[in-house]
Amino acid sequence: MGDAEALAALQKAGAYLKEQDIPVAFPTETVYGLGADATRSSAVKGIYAAKGRPSDNPLIVHVSDLDMLRGLLRPGQSPQTLATDQEDIIPRRYRALVDKFWPGPLTILLPNPTASRLAPEVTAGLPTFGVRMPSSSLALSLIKLAGVPIAAPSANASTKPSPTAAQHVKYDLDGRIELILDGGPCQVGVESTVVDGLCDPPVVLRPGGVGIDEIRKCPGWENVTKAYKDQSEVGKSTPRAPGMKYKHYSPRARVVLYEYCYGPGANGIMDGDRRLITPTSSNGHLEHQDKRPTNVIGVVRTRRWQFGAGLKYGALRQTPHIPGQTEENGTLFRVTMGDLVDEQAGSVGTLLDIDLGSDVRGIAQGLFSALRELDQRGADVIFVDGIDDQVDIAAAVMNRLRKAASEIRT
Ligand code: TXA
Ligand code: MG
Repeated sequence: MGDAEALAALQKAGAYLKEQDIPVAFPTETVYGLGADATRSSAVKGIYAAKGRPSDNPLIVHVSDLDMLRGLLRPGQSPQTLATDQEDIIPRRYRALVDKFWPGPLTILLPNPTASRLAPEVTAGLPTFGVRMPSSSLALSLIKLAGVPIAAPSANASTKPSPTAAQHVKYDLDGRIELILDGGPCQVGVESTVVDGLCDPPVVLRPGGVGIDEIRKCPGWENVTKAYKDQSEVGKSTPRAPGMKYKHYSPRARVVLYEYCYGPGANGIMDGDRRLITPTSSNGHLEHQDKRPTNVIGVVRTRRWQFGAGLKYGALRQTPHIPGQTEENGTLFRVTMGDLVDEQAGSVGTLLDIDLGSDVRGIAQGLFSALRELDQRGADVIFVDGIDDQVDIAAAVMNRLRKAASEIRT
């Protein structure tokens, strides 16, 4: 697409957001968002309708600049009054964070004023609203052109992995929305970190594209604690962020996650899992433990596993791209395909191997895309090599994987 064409698409989307009630999908640096004018109920309702999202799960508001945010905190005052105002309406505790991480993948909670300009559907009845200033230049331009704050959840169908490329949005929401702005694959690949600095000590409600160690370095945030539920904690107490109680990030395939701490998983999938997909040929009959005729096994490798994660494979081939998908518009890795073999039975299924590399940022960027890719290629089960969640933004990667997993090996 040429520059003039891209600008025309952007202008069209900006005008559309202002006037229409069908949401517009747009890229951010984290994931694609499904945006609507946050000040109009009819438009915000369109988001819930298109996504099939429960309406008690609040939306993040996206602003292009701090004055747009101040206008939300002090409705009814003119921008001039706001600009000359001595005391900033943005709470002191957030200033260091905003200076350091905005524009970028951080969402903060703020009190929603009485007579708020935000449509009530944005906050789902909560006394606070979540807001961030994205760093994607397409996102910032779109918000500026629309001239209003944009409410946007991730642009996936509810419960599916978040979309990190335009074709993921198309796959999930085709026919439900009219406009998708294509900005190529997202840089970060996991959603924003959500923090609440209105309570003491401040808390991280969702790990995301800004690591907790970075947040802890900011004045007022030295004692920030984790308030999200992960792993075994899931479901044990009332969730703080309303989104936490729903199934999330799940491909159709069964996901089996090998935690970093799981020793036997260091060399690949364990014997029990191997048996599950390797047929035993007794009496010359092919017999699968789960009785399916063939198995398509997805393997997502990160730091530890070798190709195939310890499965026996035969001939290998690079697979062609899924139609509509090219290197430029969203493929961040290669999928290598092989025959799963059994000594006696021969080929017993198909192996689909994706290597996300060992860099945490690269793993985060490719994660959702890998799960979607394997799903579209018909994987029955996806084995994933987990990483140490203490490093940089690895907490976000492991949080999403734990939510997507049907089984976790610890
Ligand atoms: O990176 C992102 O944050 C992406 C892009 C599009 O900006 N958006 C996103 O939105 O991930 P969504 O709707 O998929 O997730 C929003 C999260 C949910 O966990 C929700 O519960 C939480 O933010 N949230 C929003 N407003 C809140 C509030 N007032 N109090 C507590 N949690 C809130
Ligand atoms: Mg989401």
